[in-house]
Amino acid sequence: MKKRSLILLVAVAMMMASCVTVVNNENTGENKNETEMNTTMNDLLTRRSVRSYTDEVPPMEVIEEICKAGTYAPTGMNRQAPIIVAVTNREVRDRLSKLNASVFGRDDMDPFYGAPVVLVVLADTTAAFTWKEDGSLVMGNLLNAAHAKGLGSCWIHRAKEVFEMEEGKAILRDLGIDDTKYVGIGNCILGYTAGDYPEASPRKDNYVYWIK
Ligand SMILES: Cc1cc2nc3c(=O)[nH]c(=O)nc-3n(C[C@H](O)[C@H](O)[C@H](O)COP(=O)(O)O)c2cc1C
Repeated sequence: MKKRSLILLVAVAMMMASCVTVVNNENTGENKNETEMNTTMNDLLTRRSVRSYTDEVPPMEVIEEICKAGTYAPTGMNRQAPIIVAVTNREVRDRLSKLNASVFGRDDMDPFYGAPVVLVVLADTTAAFTWKEDGSLVMGNLLNAAHAKGLGSCWIHRAKEVFEMEEGKAILRDLGIDDTKYVGIGNCILGYTAGDYPEASPRKDNYVYWIK
């Protein structure tokens, strides 16, 4: 009887192990081929901040995919403190631009450089003490995913100040978001690049220190 139980236990363990392998293979990308790896590296190295856009709004499916990439950023203790407010509505986009410009006392310019879409990242300060880092990583994913999907993007700052204003808070409340908990991290503007694609500035010396 004891022996049979042991055999059963081993069989179950082996079955579970094989399930884990399948899940890993499906979800981790461990089987990435060289072309896929090179594409990822290339996207990371060639993403630049774009500051000139056409008016054309990218397809909703593409914007959704970019948002999805944002939601897969790592977060402290997997608390998923950040949220993304995806703004494709022109009137709200313009309002956010005006609020953003007002932070540095301007009413005659568009800090979103004409980009038709803005993905605002905010983070719940009560969800995890890493909320700021979590939100920044979401921003990074959005910027890189936009580039991977052939769109221009740029981190535009002052989301914190905008969502401290009554008008900013009202936008959150309209979406059912608790405006007392969320702090703005950044605005990821999106659209089709107009004109030349920017070049990377040289990297500074001693960016990386090795301890081998
Ligand atoms: C935290 C942060 C805030 C930024 N804020 C702005 C901004 O308000 N306006 C802007 O034009 N670019 C902004 N940028 C973009 C940087 O200027 C840009 O990343 C930098 O010049 C390097 O260029 P690259 O992104 O093309 O490599 C910001 C970037 C970061 C990371």
